[in-house]
Amino acid sequence: MTEVASVLYGREDIRRRVEALGRTITGDYVGREPVLVTVLRGGVMFLADLARAIDLPLETHFMAISRYGQAEESQGRVQILLDMDTDLAGRDVIFVEDIVDTGLTSRYLLRVLRARTPASLEVCTLLDKSARRIAPLAPRYVGFDCPDRFVIGYGLDFAERYRNLPDILQVNDLAALRADPHVLTPLLLAPAAA
Ligand code: IMP
Ligand code: MG
Repeated sequence: MTEVASVLYGREDIRRRVEALGRTITGDYVGREPVLVTVLRGGVMFLADLARAIDLPLETHFMAISRYGQAEESQGRVQILLDMDTDLAGRDVIFVEDIVDTGLTSRYLLRVLRARTPASLEVCTLLDKSARRIAPLAPRYVGFDCPDRFVIGYGLDFAERYRNLPDILQVNDLAALRADPHVLTPLLLAPAAA
């Protein structure tokens, strides 16, 4: 395929998976009030839909980080730019991620969260790019086991663009996108069908 990007998971597939995850989490946390924590900005779309698919009282909280260069170089060490203002001690925390790739960022943030002594701490990721894992990390809840391709849409960006694509696309020609980050703008104007 010569297209720069093509649909990997359409909006209907995403909707169905997110609803299934919500049902599973609802069943697993009956009688409890989970705290969903996500990282700005990629996890926002997923968290918004997931939270509405969970039929329990819950809280949503956000953190913002900045990376020191590539995750691999920095061993996933990040600077926390925005922290949540809630005490996690004794709470049932679900760390919600858009994608776990090398796992280094999640591993670092999980250490930070674990130090706050929650009663439980689980990971829920929409995409698991397990082929690229460096830090051993097996998320409890996974939307899709994602192939080793760069993906955009539904929160995931390239250079801060394309988060608002309703589908998740795999980039087939990363060189073309790097050369012109706007090359996929037509997809935003007339999004690909599910
Ligand atoms: P990790 O530390 O390598 O697991 O990477 C975590 C972060 O890298 C994710 O939260 C994303 O922000 C970003 N990332 C990894 N793979 C992709 C991708 O295919 N598309 C967009 N962002 C990605
Ligand atoms: Mg992210």
